[in-house]
Amino acid sequence: MSTSNLIEIKDLHVRMGEQTILNGVSLHVPSGGIVTVLGSNGVGKTTLMRAVSGVYRSTSGSILFDGADITNWPSHRIVAAGLAQAPEGRQIFSSMTIAENLRIGGVGLTPQEVAEEEEKQLQRFSILRDRYRQKAGTLSGGEQQMLCIARALMCRPKLLLMDEPSLGLAPKIVRQIFDLISLIRSEGHSVLLVEQNARAALRVADYAYVMDGGRIAIEGSSADLANDARVRAAYLGGHAA
Ligand SMILES: Nc1ncnc2c1ncn2[C@@H]1O[C@H](COP(=O)(O)OP(=O)(O)OP(=O)(O)O)[C@@H](O)[C@H]1O
Ligand SMILES: [Mg+2]
Repeated sequence: MSTSNLIEIKDLHVRMGEQTILNGVSLHVPSGGIVTVLGSNGVGKTTLMRAVSGVYRSTSGSILFDGADITNWPSHRIVAAGLAQAPEGRQIFSSMTIAENLRIGGVGLTPQEVAEEEEKQLQRFSILRDRYRQKAGTLSGGEQQMLCIARALMCRPKLLLMDEPSLGLAPKIVRQIFDLISLIRSEGHSVLLVEQNARAALRVADYAYVMDGGRIAIEGSSADLANDARVRAAYLGGHAA
C-alpha cells in the first residue's frame, strides 16, 4: 500500500444470496483527500459504504486502511481504527436527544475526550447547542444531517464516509453541507463522499469514480470527469460542471 493512501480498496466483491452487488470495486483515498463516488440509483454505492464500514461482509477482495488490513473487521473495530460513517438516510436516533446522539458517536473516547469533542461540534453547529436536550426527531432534515455528520465526527475519524448527505435538502442547506465537507478536510479528515449531486460533488472533490452495475466504470480527477462527455451526458445534464 502506498504510504500516501489512507484507504485502498482492492477488487471488492459483495454477494447477497444469488445476486452479486459489488463486482470487483477498486478505489483509494489519499491522506487529506476528498474522493467522490457517483452513480445512478441501485449501482451499489451504499453497499460499498456498508462493506467498507463493516456493516456488510465482503465475499472477496481487500480493504487496507491506515496500514491495517481491515477486511471484514466488525464495525466497532473499524470505527476504533479511525473510520466513521455518516450513513444514507442519516439514521439519527429520533426519540433520543441531540446530546444522546452525539455521545453515541464518541465511542472509544474517554469521558474527557467526549466532552472536548462535543464542545467542538456544538461550536460548529450552534443549532445543536440550542436544541441540545430536545429529541433529535424534532430537527429539520438539514439539521438532522448536521447531527449525523457531527455524530460521525465525534470519534475523531481519519476518514469520514458520507452517503448522500445532500439528498432531499433545500439548495441553501446543500451549499452549507458542501462548504462543511471542505472545512472537514481542512481540519485534517479525509472524506469518501457518495453523491447524486454530481456537479457539487465534482466541485468539492479532488478525484472521482463513477459506479455502474457494481463496478467502477469511469475514474479520474474531478476536473477531467467534469469535462468527460459520458459524465456530462449522464450526470451533469449535458453541461460542463
Ligand atoms: N441487504 C440487501 N439485500 C439484497 N439486496 C440488496 C441489499 N442491499 C442492497 N441490495 C441491492 O443491491 C443493489 C445496490 O444497492 P445500493 O443500495 O448499494 O445502491 P445505491 O447505489 O446506493 O443506490 P441509491 O442511489 O438508490 O442509494 C440494489 O439492486 C439493491 O436492491
Ligand atoms: Mg445508496
